[in-house]
Amino acid sequence: MFPISQSQSETRGRRVQMPLTLKVSSDKKLPHPATHGPRIFADTAAISEIEPLFRAGIISGVTTNPTLLKRAGAKSTSQAKEISIELLKLLHPYPVSLELTRLTESEMIAEAMELASWGENAVIKVPVGGYQAVDPTYDPYTGLKVIRALWERDIIINATLIFNSTQALWAARAGAGYVSPFLGRLADYAYKNDHPEKAPGNSLYMVEDHKNAKGDQNVFNTEYVACGGKRKDIGSRLIQEIAVIFSNYNIQTEILAASFRNFAQVSESLLAGADILTVPADILGKVADHPLTTAGMQSFYEDSKVFAE
Ligand code: G3P
Repeated sequence: MFPISQSQSETRGRRVQMPLTLKVSSDKKLPHPATHGPRIFADTAAISEIEPLFRAGIISGVTTNPTLLKRAGAKSTSQAKEISIELLKLLHPYPVSLELTRLTESEMIAEAMELASWGENAVIKVPVGGYQAVDPTYDPYTGLKVIRALWERDIIINATLIFNSTQALWAARAGAGYVSPFLGRLADYAYKNDHPEKAPGNSLYMVEDHKNAKGDQNVFNTEYVACGGKRKDIGSRLIQEIAVIFSNYNIQTEILAASFRNFAQVSESLLAGADILTVPADILGKVADHPLTTAGMQSFYEDSKVFAE
């Protein structure tokens, strides 16, 4: 577990300088206690999952990608557009990230302009790299060039598929308003590729318990405690690295932790200094549950029956 005291005050100092993210009506006397975050977004395109979380004040934004739109039922470009516009209207003025699907600079800029025209709260998600994996003739700097071009057009960008802090810095330098480190995929990678007898693969940090890891990556075991727990999660270590770098240089790009697999990663990302967490609805829906909360509710309810008449 990383030392949580590291750079806490610097991270907080950077965050209070960021724009206020929770809207409070002007006639409200009681100030909102969590104005400076952290913000929680829903990582889904399903309106049925988003609406209750939004009405409950849990989320203040949504992130989508082509996979999530497909999962939400979109079978064509026009259906994806329909769902995206519905999301933009429901969430307004809070941000909804919509991902680019084109792969060349000019096409991506045109697509981004189109997506941005659907709602003023649209944030354009740009893959930071990987273009040559699709076609070796593609320009490896495509993502960064598009980010720069969109920033010049006053379009807010979420740089996605971030797996190291240098990518995050490059994206911030290009003009991204958000960077999305995929901590879950990184942890999955470490579990699958790090072996006790070998040096860690491309991952920078060993996880201590990989010897016991099963196929299931979810960490619901009672042995694990987020604060002071013994597992090193390379995903949250990445978040911390970016938080320290951005705080060192007062970079205002927001760290949008993404690709969650479990509750522990939620707590760890918050401790590591993420500005925003985008979490799948099934995890968000269960975060407030705890066996002791359930037991407490049951006993309070039983005892309250005495006062019922
Ligand atoms: O926001 C990014 C996220 O949707 C990726 O998550 O679960 O596909 O790694 P996952």
